[in-house]
Amino acid sequence: MHSIETFRDLQGEATAWRHYLHENPELDYRVDNTARFVAGKLASFGINHIETGIADTGIVAMIQGKGGEGPTIGLRADMDALPIFEASNKPWSSQIPGKMHACGHDGHTSMLLGAAKYLAKTRNFKGAVALIFQPAEEDGRGGQRMVQEGIMDRFGISQVFGMHNEPGMEVGKFGICDGPLGAALDEFDIIVKGRGGHAASPHQNIDPIVLAAQIILGLQALVSRGTDPLESLVISVTKLNAGTAYNIIPDHAEICGTVRTLAPDLRDFAERQILAAAQGIARGFGGDVELKYRRLEPVTFNHTAETNLATKAARSLVGPASVDDSIRPSMGSEDFAYMLEARPGAYILLGNGSTAGLHNPAYDFNDEALSYGIGYWVNLVETTLGAGD
Ligand code: NI
Repeated sequence: MHSIETFRDLQGEATAWRHYLHENPELDYRVDNTARFVAGKLASFGINHIETGIADTGIVAMIQGKGGEGPTIGLRADMDALPIFEASNKPWSSQIPGKMHACGHDGHTSMLLGAAKYLAKTRNFKGAVALIFQPAEEDGRGGQRMVQEGIMDRFGISQVFGMHNEPGMEVGKFGICDGPLGAALDEFDIIVKGRGGHAASPHQNIDPIVLAAQIILGLQALVSRGTDPLESLVISVTKLNAGTAYNIIPDHAEICGTVRTLAPDLRDFAERQILAAAQGIARGFGGDVELKYRRLEPVTFNHTAETNLATKAARSLVGPASVDDSIRPSMGSEDFAYMLEARPGAYILLGNGSTAGLHNPAYDFNDEALSYGIGYWVNLVETTLGAGD
């Protein structure tokens, strides 16, 4: 296992890649230039098995170890940016107005490239490493599509690992936990049906706005009164639409929002009870509701054996005290969850220092973190696939 000093040499080069990617952000599946850049770098490291165009612009590249037969593990980075006007004032700020790397995927891509360069040179492991560069993480579909397009079977991947930077965590520190680390993400639309009419005659109408107001509070009661207080359920109403004029009670109102859960039974509970509560309230006043409920990303679930491997790799890099192996899960979601559904694996957080938060216009990935991410990937490969000759 290597200490962080081994990877300092790669820091300068990885920083240059990161700044280039930061200046040239691309969105969702349309990361063509980024993918071309990544594939070009991989080829320049002497990697000759590179498949492009998976899920439109995703890449899987294979590095064979020199230690002989062994399993293949997948390491994943995301490549897409966000539709935000950058306000970081950094010299390498986005050159494309309205697009920026506000989640650090430029850093994630550069760290996996740095690890690829190191691993392609040393190949000090058995089996093989599959480098997975995915598009459209923010859209929540790129990881799912790469799995649906069969990357796990096609490349013989038996375990899969992911990493994300964490603003507010010191550079050089890592955080991970066994089991759920991120939440399942669902979305809902509730159409509240009333009966419109003159605002001066409420008794002759069924006011969907008053029903919507009660439904919104009713949904919060599902959380506070219907859920075990030691379990986590988030229901957030994030959009509310109704009405056209000051003197008209409208026909209907629309309530939209998101549900986050860490456990499958709470996810079922939320879907079932949101309908029951909304229906009960609306029908009690002569109205009705229609619910559209969509289950999107699954729980980001870390498997025990792989969590232990990830923890061991990080500790071998920065020492035991700098790796917290029992961080609290977040109610955010991550499309790496689809890869963790397809194969056992683990997702780890990497300290980004005291930067602005993710998805904030002032955010920037911390270049000081690059060598830690590179070192983690290399130590993970050598830990998991044993050292070759
Ligand atoms: Ni992200």
